[in-house]
Amino acid sequence: MKNTFYLNISSADNLGIGLFKYAFLPHERFIIVNSALSKILGVTSSGELKKVRLENFFANYSERDEFFRHVRMNGKVNFFEAVFKTLTGDNIWVAITCSLVIHDRKEYLEGIIENISAHKEMEGSLALERDFLQGLLDNLPDAMYFKDRNNRIIKVNKFYAQGVGLKPEEIVGKTDFDFFPAQQARQMSVDDNYVLTTGKPIIGKIERTLLPDGSWNQAITTKIPMYDKNAKIIGTMGITRDMTVYANLEKERLLMLINTLKILGKALEMRDPYTFSHTRHVASIAEIIAKELNWDENRLLGIRLAGELHDLGKISIPLDILNKPGKLSDLEYSLIQQHAKNCYDLIKDIEFPFPLSETIYQHHERLDGSGYPRKLKGDEILFEARILAVSDVLESMTQHRPYREALGIVNASKELTSGRGLRYDSGIVDVALDLINKNGNKIFWKDN
Ligand SMILES: [Fe+2]
Ligand SMILES: [Fe+2]
Repeated sequence: MKNTFYLNISSADNLGIGLFKYAFLPHERFIIVNSALSKILGVTSSGELKKVRLENFFANYSERDEFFRHVRMNGKVNFFEAVFKTLTGDNIWVAITCSLVIHDRKEYLEGIIENISAHKEMEGSLALERDFLQGLLDNLPDAMYFKDRNNRIIKVNKFYAQGVGLKPEEIVGKTDFDFFPAQQARQMSVDDNYVLTTGKPIIGKIERTLLPDGSWNQAITTKIPMYDKNAKIIGTMGITRDMTVYANLEKERLLMLINTLKILGKALEMRDPYTFSHTRHVASIAEIIAKELNWDENRLLGIRLAGELHDLGKISIPLDILNKPGKLSDLEYSLIQQHAKNCYDLIKDIEFPFPLSETIYQHHERLDGSGYPRKLKGDEILFEARILAVSDVLESMTQHRPYREALGIVNASKELTSGRGLRYDSGIVDVALDLINKNGNKIFWKDN
């Protein structure tokens, strides 16, 4: 009988692959083993290994029985994985590949045994990592998505899928255009392309989204690039948190603040009806102009507040000077001019998320430096203050004052046109004139 192996024994030893020939009944034992197998199974010599039966190495009976059943049924096993207890008492993972061969009516097993413990350990830690990531994705109460370079969705988590009323696998291959109104989807696409082309993330962007049920939600989104192993950008990953509840809460709080200010305004109006109906109108005009400029809600709120409060400083100026018919003396005029600074001093130490006090301070400044109180010029004047300036002129000139009749919208338009780009911001003047024009040369705000 000739004992042959396809793999050279010394090569197998070098590779750490255990080779064996094993005899079945009547004398069940290893008859040929290489030194790599002795090492794997924790014996010092091949002679020692030949005294131990193969079945005794199986740590689990079920695996042992399955192994021998496979061998009997198929005449071979291919990479059969099992836990072995070595003779040093260690549990190791092995893979057995062997065939049942018959020589002279006797049965033998010929094959290889490899120690795959390190591989199993790595597989286990990878599986753990995968399970951990999947668990995180499935349980995260934020919408998470992965997109390819064409902004097609590769994967989403459960929360995202619930939001659009589909199963995660039904979303694969779709784009934002399948779920959101075209204008929004376009903006999302612009953001994705920015991340793809620049490699820079977009962090904490506030988005208002129209949901399929017709309601709006407010969300905060972060998008980051995804890289392959060669550091090439292969797509984007995004996470979106629904902030609607908080946004509504915030809105209610701001509404309370605005309503409180309205009460204050009404109280002040009882004392000085002209000034405080004027501030209400200026707030409306400024807000309408800012809306035309597509400002976001927060900035709109800021300009509205600035409009409501801009002449609050007049509270410290005697009424008989404020409403004096006829020409004012230089002293009286300089007293009136103090109202911008008075209001600034009143609110400068109160924190607002927009430059409220500075906007109010600047509402009588003019681009050419002809305004007051600091004679600021051009870029020194906040854009918000430039809107207030135009709104203030429009309101003042179209309303009756104790010291003069209303000058009318035509004269107000003339004043804006003559000062366009000189005293007043040309872009804002254009918006205002356009609004007047569209409204049939009448005032475009509520006059009450
Ligand atoms: Fe003013
Ligand atoms: Fe004013």
